[in-house]
Amino acid sequence: MSAALSWQELHFTAKKEQVAALESWLFESGALSVTLEDDADQPLLEPGPGETPLWEAVSVTALFEGDRALQSVIDAVPRHLVVTIAEQPTPVADREWTRVWEDQFHPMQMGQRLWVCPSWTAPPDPAAVNILLDPGLAFGTGTHPTTAMCLRAIDAGVSHAIRVVDYGCGSGILGIAAARLGSGPVLAIDNDPQALVASRANAEANGVGEDQFVVAMPDDSAVTQWSGTAQLVAANILAGPLVTLAPTLLSLLAPGGQLLLAGLLEEQANQVIDAYAPELPLQIAAQEDGWVLLSGERAA
Ligand SMILES: C[S@@+](CC[C@H](N)C(=O)[O-])C[C@H]1O[C@@H](n2cnc3c(N)ncnc32)[C@H](O)[C@@H]1O
Repeated sequence: MSAALSWQELHFTAKKEQVAALESWLFESGALSVTLEDDADQPLLEPGPGETPLWEAVSVTALFEGDRALQSVIDAVPRHLVVTIAEQPTPVADREWTRVWEDQFHPMQMGQRLWVCPSWTAPPDPAAVNILLDPGLAFGTGTHPTTAMCLRAIDAGVSHAIRVVDYGCGSGILGIAAARLGSGPVLAIDNDPQALVASRANAEANGVGEDQFVVAMPDDSAVTQWSGTAQLVAANILAGPLVTLAPTLLSLLAPGGQLLLAGLLEEQANQVIDAYAPELPLQIAAQEDGWVLLSGERAA
């Protein structure tokens, strides 16, 4: 027996800075809910210089009652608030719509000890280290191969109270994982203030307090204070920034410390390896869907 089509959705993509105004406009136009999904968690190629980073893109889905005539809403959406707009509503079966998130995000095991679980599911292994993380505006839910490879390496590498830097923290997922796996202090750095807000909130939601998990912009004094003290530096950004940031990331690393770099494609590996080679030998530690994880240890 098929379910009644009681609901409809409108789909958009928008830039992060458009989302709040678009969301308000949709609610004013009768949307019952508006869900945001980080479009960034998709395998995307690196943007060229001057282009908007692709993970600035957000998928926006607005839910309306099934009997609502939506053509007037589609026609009236302020075009300066969207990048793309689907010209037709999508019917949603009554019993399906609450399961949209559940279909897309499910608990994922990362290595031996770690799971990343959406907050609406019971962790499959209550005895594991379970991070509760919902999709949001900041990149990093664990579904992207670059994040997953970093998480597995962190699961394998964090065995005692080491000092950890999560450079380009996004949602904070890597630093939060390290903290929950037993690391010492974590410094989570991002050049997007919204990512720092998300990281702080996600850390709190996972029981990681401000005393252990500090968020900072790249030019904050905390970054200088950490110079030469991090026993693990993880940076999941893009090949270009990873090359540019080589002196910064190396300056944070303590003697004997481990560097994890992700966000680069296989064909970009040599370029990044070369940028760090004078000080630290990097090797490909994992590969997934064309993305690679580089790892290396600084001489003790
Ligand atoms: C791919 S996301 C990674 C998020 C998370 N660490 C993960 O592994 O899923 C990259 C993050 O790096 C940040 N970022 C990009 N360039 C940066 C830079 N030069 N300095 C600091 N953060 C940067 C972006 O704002 C974004 O949040």
